[in-house]
Amino acid sequence: MCLRELFLLVFLLVPLGAPAAPPDSQAVLNMLDYVSVEYPEFVRDGQVLDQEEYAEQVEFSSRVRDLVGAMPAGARHTDLVNQAEELVGLIADKAQAQHVVALARKLQAGLVTEYQIVVAPRRAPDPAEGAQLYASNCGSCHGAQGRGNGPAAAGLDPAPTDFTDVARASARSVFGLYNTISLGVTGTSMPAFAQMTDAQRWALAFHVASFSNDPAQVRDGEAAWRAGEGRKAFPGLAQAVTVTPLEARSSGPRNDAVLAYLRAHPQALTAHAGSPLDFSLSALAHSIQAVRAGRHDDAYRLAVTAYLEGFELAEPGLASRDPDLLARTEQAMMTYRNAVHAGAPAGEIEAAYVRAVDALQLARTALAASALSPAAGFAGSIVIILREGLEAILVLAAMAAFLVKTGRREEMRWLHAGWIGALLLGAVTWAVSSTIIRISGAQREVTEGVTALLSAGVLLYVGFWLHSKSNARRWSMFIRDRMAGAGADTRFGARAALGIALVAFLAVYREVFETVLFYQALWAQAAGAGRNAILFGLAAGVVGLLVMAWLIIRLSVHLPLGLFFGASSLLLAVMAVVFAGQGIAALQEAGKLPLHPLDFPAVPMLGIYPNLQGIGLQLALIVVIVGGWYLVREQSRKT
Ligand code: HEC
Repeated sequence: MCLRELFLLVFLLVPLGAPAAPPDSQAVLNMLDYVSVEYPEFVRDGQVLDQEEYAEQVEFSSRVRDLVGAMPAGARHTDLVNQAEELVGLIADKAQAQHVVALARKLQAGLVTEYQIVVAPRRAPDPAEGAQLYASNCGSCHGAQGRGNGPAAAGLDPAPTDFTDVARASARSVFGLYNTISLGVTGTSMPAFAQMTDAQRWALAFHVASFSNDPAQVRDGEAAWRAGEGRKAFPGLAQAVTVTPLEARSSGPRNDAVLAYLRAHPQALTAHAGSPLDFSLSALAHSIQAVRAGRHDDAYRLAVTAYLEGFELAEPGLASRDPDLLARTEQAMMTYRNAVHAGAPAGEIEAAYVRAVDALQLARTALAASALSPAAGFAGSIVIILREGLEAILVLAAMAAFLVKTGRREEMRWLHAGWIGALLLGAVTWAVSSTIIRISGAQREVTEGVTALLSAGVLLYVGFWLHSKSNARRWSMFIRDRMAGAGADTRFGARAALGIALVAFLAVYREVFETVLFYQALWAQAAGAGRNAILFGLAAGVVGLLVMAWLIIRLSVHLPLGLFFGASSLLLAVMAVVFAGQGIAALQEAGKLPLHPLDFPAVPMLGIYPNLQGIGLQLALIVVIVGGWYLVREQSRKT
């Protein structure tokens, strides 16, 4: 397999890892979003400006057609299928952008109503972004204060909406506003802001909703929310954006105030940013309901989700406040997961559920007590970067030392290509995952698991190769051969270069997402000084890693050649065993591999997790390594 194929394989594993759990409606909406935002950029007046992007549009539209076709039949299903078919035709004909966009939006709106799809932002919108977008795009008509009296409003019929009109605003959900902003109002001067991203339109919708806020009510709502009110009515963003203030008023005594607060501070709600633990609690509640209804597969999937998409993200913040509670909560969630998975008796599952919920609630109180203090932000941040980066830097430094030591500094570019490529590809994958295709926690773990196992394989190979040269005499022979026969030399050189780049790539790529996610969660828990502390922690951690790499390279220069090769191949072998254990654990967390617990403590840093599968693979690797080492030694004796 060549390097490019491998890049692609790793990259594709993420979006295609597993089909999204609910029917594909959300994916279809996203693809349509993508079509309507990007098509006008790449096709103009029947001319394709970017062939590759255009091919993607063609592919997306046909996937939309297939997926819509497979949706359950309903009152308007045939209509929707026809529209999807028409969209494929328009794109194939490179039709005018406005027709394509209009049709994609219409199909989107049709799907939302027909299948009652609840659309919610993926993350809590950033209020500052909403205010800024509003000032530059909307104020001219709707007025700087939202009163509908902007300079361009004069003479418009109908007049731009006055967003401070409380009576009107109480009948509007944020989702309704979002839809109007996305689709415009035909027959009026209100344009569709289809060119904006999904996140921008949500930010605007929240900003528009805030004009009718009553500050006293928002404060009241905040107090109620902190006292635990409204949690049932608003378990997540989806409810906060679809319920209107009027509806909230009739659903509970202070729910309208809570809704006002949540609309003003959506980050109080989000699974991924604000309060991962609330997300865990609600996913666990769904899970136990599934258990009671006898749907064990669903229950298990939800239990995995509760862990990966909620709790795991709160870990760094919790670790810096109460490590004990962190361990207890983690354990309780695992016990519940395993009980569901093993189909334990109902009483046992219920008991495990209660313990997990208790622990999560304690953890939530610990986290909510205050915004993350600067000290905790710094500590959490430095722990994340050291934990996620340590293994990668060890591997990179060992390889760099090898190149320096053998006078092959010029090959260092392969090493750099590998890790830089991993960071770039990581960033791209991240961008894709937050705009086009949502990556679930399970898919993230699958990617991490697969890359870890691949790394283990490549490290093993490179380690053996190094070891086979650990005899100084053999190494000088190898260099002489290289000098002598240029023909044989290039082939060998290419293979070694590929190995180096691959090792560097895999060691870094597997950590990128998780690191970004952890930082996102930490960032959301902090404010002001806490956020600066997070940045300092990150910088300090990176410096620490660099110093460590420098030390390893420096020290190794003074080692005798044979000892150096022995030591670095040992280091690589150990890393291979560590990666193998972590890879198995990640796949188990994602629910892709069975888990048979063994009874001893876990040491995650060393990839040691107490289960049969992981330990088994690690033992097998150790046998291979020791056996290989012995064979190489026997061979070098003979020569
Ligand atoms: C050219 C003038 C103009 C601009 C610019 C404009 N709007 Fe509007 N908007 C209108 C008009 C006119 C209406 C009223 C349509 C109607 O009465 O059906 C409206 C209605 C709306 C509504 C519906 C409100 C409701 O309660 O139904 C929303 C939401 C909205 N605009 C948001 C925005 C946002 C956000 C922006 C900027 C991104 C924006 N508008 C920019 C003219 C404009």
